[in-house]
Amino acid sequence: MSTGLAPRPYRLDVHPPDTTGEGLADDVRRGLAAPPYVLPPKHFYDEHGSDLFERITRLPEYYQSRTELAILRAIAPGLVARRGVGEIVELGSGASRKTAALLDAMREDGRPGRYIPFDVCPEAILAAAGRLTGAYPGLDVHGVAGDFDHHLGGVPDPAAPGSRLVAFLGGTIGNLEPADRTPFLRRVARLLGDDDLLLVGTDLAGDPERIRAAYDDAEGVTAEFNLNVLRVINRELGAGFDLDAFDHVAVYDPGPPWIEMRLRSRRDQIVRIPAIGLEVPFARGQEIRTEISCKFTRASVAEMYEAAGLRLVEWHEDPAGWFAVSVAARA
Ligand code: AVJ
Repeated sequence: MSTGLAPRPYRLDVHPPDTTGEGLADDVRRGLAAPPYVLPPKHFYDEHGSDLFERITRLPEYYQSRTELAILRAIAPGLVARRGVGEIVELGSGASRKTAALLDAMREDGRPGRYIPFDVCPEAILAAAGRLTGAYPGLDVHGVAGDFDHHLGGVPDPAAPGSRLVAFLGGTIGNLEPADRTPFLRRVARLLGDDDLLLVGTDLAGDPERIRAAYDDAEGVTAEFNLNVLRVINRELGAGFDLDAFDHVAVYDPGPPWIEMRLRSRRDQIVRIPAIGLEVPFARGQEIRTEISCKFTRASVAEMYEAAGLRLVEWHEDPAGWFAVSVAARA
């Protein structure tokens, strides 16, 4: 298609510390000093881990990605046109594969627009930025590599004509500890003006076996992804984790409700982590919790927004009720 617009140069702001720096050391020191062992999920996503996650999104068991994409394709044109969206900030953008639904809608509405991918993995942003500037001539791409805890303030101010849509897709909000959700959403709300919108994907509570299988695929890709956090710690902190000495475990806990991913020690062992002078003892069967992935209902999503000074303005779920995309605005 000829738009008369040339691909623009794109920029990427990289905020240290990233997964290779202090952040990881602090998290490992805190999480493995004493049981119950716990590691935050953001350290899965080095370049290899981001690739593995991409493979997860294409697994037959992992219904979330294709379901969310179908919802987005259905609602994006109306949403973008109705609200005059000219700028998209995507939190946890990864490979930016779902972004096309939003960028297509912006282009069809006559705005080249601006795209601000925010992710913990700079390589993933660069790859996406290169691809998208080529595919969307005139699109202004300004990436930000950082983590949600420290660098949301590094998101540039709105610059494009039209309103801003902040997208947090994939159900990633479910990876936050419930206690961290409100403070996080309050910080996200600061990226929004009065006419701006927040778009959030949430995995929905439902059949425990279907949901659990999405985190324990037959091919073992999720197991590799889970173990990758040990690979990252070995590389960055000189640790001696033997990846063959841990099993991948996924448990659905209907209480919260959420999925827990864990790594379970196959034997008694002591793992040394020289960079932080830590020795971590494991009994056979002892686990590290590596991720929670919360499952929501419409009511719990509305409540979550309210707690953060936002309000639910649109709710879209697939016909089976497995996944939802909701729209919020400042209350
Ligand atoms: C990052 C939220 C999309 O929790 O479902 C996939 C990460 N972990 N398989 C999720 C994940 C294991 C995923 N999200």
